[in-house]
Amino acid sequence: MPSFFEKASYILHGRRKGRPLRTGKTALMQTLLPRIEINLEQQSNPADYFSGKDIWLEVGFGGGEHLAWQAKENPNVGMIGCEPYVNAVASLLKHIDEGALQNIRVWDDDARIVIDALPDNSISRAFVLFPDPWPKNRHANRRFIGPENLPKLARIMKSGAQLRVASDDPTLQEYMLEHLRASPDFKPAPDTEHGMRKTRLDDWPATRYEIKELAKKRPNWKGPEYYVFIRK
Ligand SMILES: C[S@@+](CC[C@H](N)C(=O)[O-])C[C@H]1O[C@@H](n2cnc3c(N)ncnc32)[C@H](O)[C@@H]1O
Repeated sequence: MPSFFEKASYILHGRRKGRPLRTGKTALMQTLLPRIEINLEQQSNPADYFSGKDIWLEVGFGGGEHLAWQAKENPNVGMIGCEPYVNAVASLLKHIDEGALQNIRVWDDDARIVIDALPDNSISRAFVLFPDPWPKNRHANRRFIGPENLPKLARIMKSGAQLRVASDDPTLQEYMLEHLRASPDFKPAPDTEHGMRKTRLDDWPATRYEIKELAKKRPNWKGPEYYVFIRK
């Protein structure tokens, strides 16, 4: 298992910083984040933050509304949220602060680093919602759900654990579904069409990205797709 010292071997494509944060969010980054961030130098096994609870993982939580909702609805589950974009982390912190949520730990960097640090069979559910599409063929290896990362997710997921994925991008939809269906480690969830749904499950709120994209009128667009697979 690579140690956190090897994190430089991953190249993160995508932004880390956007507009300057407002004062309230800057304060949360300085006060709340240090209390709930995952620190692999102090705690090499991130599962140890949760003392035996079920652990769910969200990769690329964006504004954090989905993760915060899951944390509120499932107070006995420990949540790990991974997101390298500072403005998004600050947005999640606002949700955590406003909801007084106690069960979230934040990894403010590339999810692959924390995935590598997690032990085998330690995650009971994983979410990768509207990952960056990288629609050009030459960028296909940057797509999060694919042949590189599916075995990594499979290693840390418990047998029977759900993997929930979504996308609105036709190229990415086709790519992810092909790799999910071909994976020897995952099988489609029963309430799906070979792993695919056209609607979210009841305990799956819309994300900010999803709401923004759905509001756009796109000709001949087949709409978002939701994938639910089970770790064998
Ligand atoms: C299109 S946004 C979607 C955000 C959110 N899931 C939503 O649906 O609103 C994709 C997010 O994935 C994050 N991301 C990209 N690569 C990542 C990685 N390797 N690890 C964790 N997050 C990543 C980006 O910073 C970005 O916030």
